[in-house]
Formats: sequence, structure tokens, C-alpha cells
Amino acid sequence: MKIFARDRKGVEHTLEGNDGWTVMEALRDAGLPITAECGGACACATCHVYVEEGWFEKLNPASPEELDMLDMALAVEPNSRLACQIQINANTDGIKVTLAPE
Ligand code: FES
Repeated sequence: MKIFARDRKGVEHTLEGNDGWTVMEALRDAGLPITAECGGACACATCHVYVEEGWFEKLNPASPEELDMLDMALAVEPNSRLACQIQINANTDGIKVTLAPE
């Protein structure tokens, strides 16, 4: 599965992620600068990304826990999500995300 990720300098990266991983795991595995302090437990918001239009709408809605975490994140936009809450599967193959500011 492919993930297209733009880093904070605007550089595009093409990542590989396995079915069942999260986008956060693919970002981390590729060495992109994402802190993901809580390891994917939806408890830190340091895996904040912006999901490109067209993909955002395809995702499952954010859980109340994710929305609570996003409330505490900086620079939240209408297309903000936590990368650890986005599953990689056939529906998200090719998703495009941008790392949010730290
Ligand atoms: S890694 Fe902590 S909320 Fe995603």
C-alpha cells in the first residue's frame, strides 16, 4: 500500500505501508519526523497530519477520543486527523497527507 506524505519542508515522500498498519506507523518506519509520543494510543496528538481533500472524506469519522486530542493540538484545520487513527487498507491505498507543524 502506498502513502504519499509531504514533510514540513514541502518535500514529497512515497511510503510503503502494510495492510493493517496505521499511517503513523508508515511515517515513523520511513523515518519522517513525527514524534508519535504515545505510540498510537490516541493520547498525545504528536502524529497530527492534514489529509488531502478527496481522501479526508473517505476516512472513518474521528472517534470522540481523537476529537478530544485534536482539540489540544496546534494549527488544527478542518482536514486534521491523527495519523495513528488512520488504518492502511484498500480504502486508504494512495492517501495523501501533510505533516502538521510540531
Ligand atoms: S501517536 Fe499519540 S495520538 Fe497518535
